[in-house]
Amino acid sequence: MVNSVSDSDSDIPTLSAYAAEALKDQFWYSDATSEYLSNIAHSIAAKNDSEGLIVFMSSPTAFVKFVDMYPNYQNVYLLEFDQRFNLYKEKYYKYDYNKQSELPGFLTQNKAATIILDPPFLNEDCLTKFMASVSLLSDDNTKVLLCSGAVMKPLAQTFNLKQTNFFPEHKKSR
Ligand SMILES: C[S@@+](CC[C@H](N)C(=O)[O-])C[C@H]1O[C@@H](n2cnc3c(N)ncnc32)[C@H](O)[C@@H]1O
Repeated sequence: MVNSVSDSDSDIPTLSAYAAEALKDQFWYSDATSEYLSNIAHSIAAKNDSEGLIVFMSSPTAFVKFVDMYPNYQNVYLLEFDQRFNLYKEKYYKYDYNKQSELPGFLTQNKAATIILDPPFLNEDCLTKFMASVSLLSDDNTKVLLCSGAVMKPLAQTFNLKQTNFFPEHKKSR
């Protein structure tokens, strides 16, 4: 499955701040996709004035959009390798899927209402390690939204993930 980086906000990383090479190698969500994912996350996690835990894993533009759309929502965090997002201070935690068990204790203790993840590589090792982290962050009630390529579908199904009819869109690279 599936970021909001606002080019107008100098406090957050912007696509224009990325080096040309990095831009070519990344698959940043379109605004519409970021909004869609943010709304899904909010509709799952926000219930009757309570804030369920939302974790964005390696989906920074969706996280940035969520913060933009729901600035008062406190219980939302970004786990991401790219340390430029440490601009988000206590909302950001460096995450490396090769260290899949190294997660903030308060996140693994609280369990997420929803997790949105977009692993960097389309291979078994990467998705399996991401899902090991997801397992530590979730319980039976957690809704997991994986954004990935069709080639990962068979493996994703082994984690009880089902394909939806939503196809994320990405910004065009140069
Ligand atoms: C395919 S991109 C997904 C970006 C997403 N579409 C978005 O717009 O936010 C993969 C993400 O994985 C991150 N990443 C790269 N290496 C990683 C690692 N070792 N562990 C976890 N995440 C990593 C990248 O920084 C990038 O944000």
